Amino acid sequence: MSEPNDFFKQHLAQTTPFPFGIKVDYAKGSYIYDTEGKAYLDLISGIAVSALGHGHPKILEAIKTQSEKHLHVMVYGEFEQEAQNNLAKELLKTLPDNINSFYFVNSGTEAIEAALKLAKRVTGKREIIAFKNAYHGSTHGALSLSSNEKKKAPFEPLLPQVKHIELNNLEHLDHISEETACVILETIQGDAGVRFPTKAYLQALRKKCDETCTLLIFDEIQCGMGRTGKMWAFDHFEVVPDLLVAGKSLGGGMPIGCLMADRKLMLQFSVNPMLGHITTFGGHPLVCATAAAGLKVIREEQLLKALPIKAQLFKELLQHQEIKEVRQLGLMMAIELENEEKVQQLVLKGLEKGVLLFWFLSTPNAFRLAPPLNISEQEIREGCQTILELLNDL
Ligand SMILES: Cc1ncc(COP(=O)(O)O)c(C=O)c1O
Repeated sequence: MSEPNDFFKQHLAQTTPFPFGIKVDYAKGSYIYDTEGKAYLDLISGIAVSALGHGHPKILEAIKTQSEKHLHVMVYGEFEQEAQNNLAKELLKTLPDNINSFYFVNSGTEAIEAALKLAKRVTGKREIIAFKNAYHGSTHGALSLSSNEKKKAPFEPLLPQVKHIELNNLEHLDHISEETACVILETIQGDAGVRFPTKAYLQALRKKCDETCTLLIFDEIQCGMGRTGKMWAFDHFEVVPDLLVAGKSLGGGMPIGCLMADRKLMLQFSVNPMLGHITTFGGHPLVCATAAAGLKVIREEQLLKALPIKAQLFKELLQHQEIKEVRQLGLMMAIELENEEKVQQLVLKGLEKGVLLFWFLSTPNAFRLAPPLNISEQEIREGCQTILELLNDL
């Protein structure tokens, strides 16, 4: 494996003292290649981003076509742009009737900020309820939703009036009251180590929000766009949110975030005050073109049809005495080992062996898998075989 060079370490801001540091040359399909020609099987997709693998021809074609038409022409919202319209049309095909208006921004955390603002604007209330072990992003508002005191403390003061409740704890629903503007939940919690609500719990949560005029926000930045085997994770539960937030793989490999809501709610951003939420680059035409192309690929190549077989294959192959638990819905997976040290060792050894695995921010005794949705069965077998060999050596 190539070592990160000094220029990278000195001049590119670091987020940890231990970056993977692969010197990327190019990426194709389910593999990333370094400058020495070594191939890495990508079982994390840049943390659930490259859902169509790397260099999908339809994505490249969309980039070429749009770049020859135009790039940025005006701040978001002023001009009508075909690429934005096309993305909205693709999204509409996948969503329930009450989610019909789209605000495109540049990242997941930005879309979360927009959702919190819209909830305050629509309800006139201030209290926000989030979940223990949630992750919604790293900007001030999104960070306020985290219950990780260690990560939050150095940046306080953050947003006031944020409470945290436990997932699947019906008694905790009593904290939701007439004072609550919104409840925000990752439909499947990602960074908590892939944790699921029960259907009964989500339905009770929906009911409580209705009773208290509280908006229910689902964050599907990680679990949406087909990752769990349905287009949206909430499709598994027969519960529909008031606001929906997406990002990551929605951009087809380009940076995006999207707040979705009923038009009646979204209109509140344009009055009292006008320009209630604004962005320069949100809805960038190149990004919208690739995002629309990506959704079309999922639909036309029927990727979700093949997904349960792939998910099952991972489940069958990943059996080993070192594996304590596999939490999985579709291709969103947490593999729990005995302790943090074993996870560290496994992920780093994976890197040496050419298989990309990754950790969770706040679940130290598990590693994550989020491969491209179009990964082949052969690649799954190859990746799992390497993982099993690494587990043998722990
Ligand atoms: C569930 C969830 N919400 C929000 C975010 C933040 O998205 P971004 O990193 O694009 O700001 C992430 C990123 O990992 C996420 O997984």
